[in-house]
Amino acid sequence: MEKKNLAWESIGFSYRETDKRYVSNYKNGKWNKGAITSDSNIILNESAGVFQYCQSVFEGLKAYTTKDGSTVTFRPDLNAERMIDSAKGLEMPPFPKERFLDAIDQVVKANADWVPPYGSGATLYLRPYMFASSPVIGIKPAEEYQFRVLCTPVGPYFKGGVKPLTICVSDFDRAAPHGTGHLKAGLNYAMSLHTYVEAHRRGFDENMFLDSATRTFVEETGGANFFFVTKDNEIVIPKSDTILPSITRRSMVIVAEKYLGLKVTERPVKLSEINTFLECGLCGTAAVISPVAKVVDHGKEICFSGCQKTMGPVTQKLYDTLTGIQLGDIEAPEGWIRKIC
Ligand code: PLP
Ligand code: COI
Repeated sequence: MEKKNLAWESIGFSYRETDKRYVSNYKNGKWNKGAITSDSNIILNESAGVFQYCQSVFEGLKAYTTKDGSTVTFRPDLNAERMIDSAKGLEMPPFPKERFLDAIDQVVKANADWVPPYGSGATLYLRPYMFASSPVIGIKPAEEYQFRVLCTPVGPYFKGGVKPLTICVSDFDRAAPHGTGHLKAGLNYAMSLHTYVEAHRRGFDENMFLDSATRTFVEETGGANFFFVTKDNEIVIPKSDTILPSITRRSMVIVAEKYLGLKVTERPVKLSEINTFLECGLCGTAAVISPVAKVVDHGKEICFSGCQKTMGPVTQKLYDTLTGIQLGDIEAPEGWIRKIC
């Protein structure tokens, strides 16, 4: 199999159409068999639930080429489980876990020549998603749904690769208490777009959202969780019911404790205390582990002295160990790596 002729080292994080995708439809109370297709277009009724009431959930994970030439995914079982939770939260029929895992494997195999080579810094991003496909007009869940998995090769999410980011505190809220912030629902992202564009216009890389009830605690960015490092090398992770339970973050906790022997504390983190931390970073599938140099709160600059020009030492260790596990250079905990081919 010949790899596609792309400049893998310099691709960014954008959609590039690949050859195959997976589709399964839900009708009359059950999911059909599902199949790989070449057709990247979707034709839907004008009143489909996804258009009217935003009934749509998604996932994000990556396929990696390891040093020995295998193609693997990282903890896809957790993506399957989170998508089930997201679907239930939006009154959609969950797509069964085993079928989810099989669909991912099929898409990776069908697009094997799009999986970036080992050492290129690029990966194959997989985007499973599900939406209401039948018409509704009164406010209610649709009766029919479509589950799809597309894939596209990607490089670093943030321009400038590992250059530490600058982030501004958003004036808008991402999620309400008892709302949908913990689900990976398209609606959470739609409402973050305005503040995202504003942040970019003002020269920032991302937004820091605060808890909407008190606007005093750190939540997350539009597409990643935060972590901080204290002067004693302890990792502090904001805890909240209204942020997405990041798989990267949950894995990073285990990496920090079990591989690096670091203390990890998950607790609510006040915006007013983040100036005491030496390092700050973002974690997520797209963001991987990205250092943050500065958070700007309405003109007040909070600089992380450990992450000014490059990754701080603790952030670097977390990054090296996690990506080492994902790329097969470091032995993974049992069940973390799914070998596809
Ligand atoms: N938070 C948000 C809002 C996200 O969209 C993502 C991306 O999936 C994350 C956090 C990171 O989650 P994960 O590590 O599972 O990709
Ligand atoms: C991911 O990391 O997979 C996401 O869905 C977040 C988005 C920034 C691409």
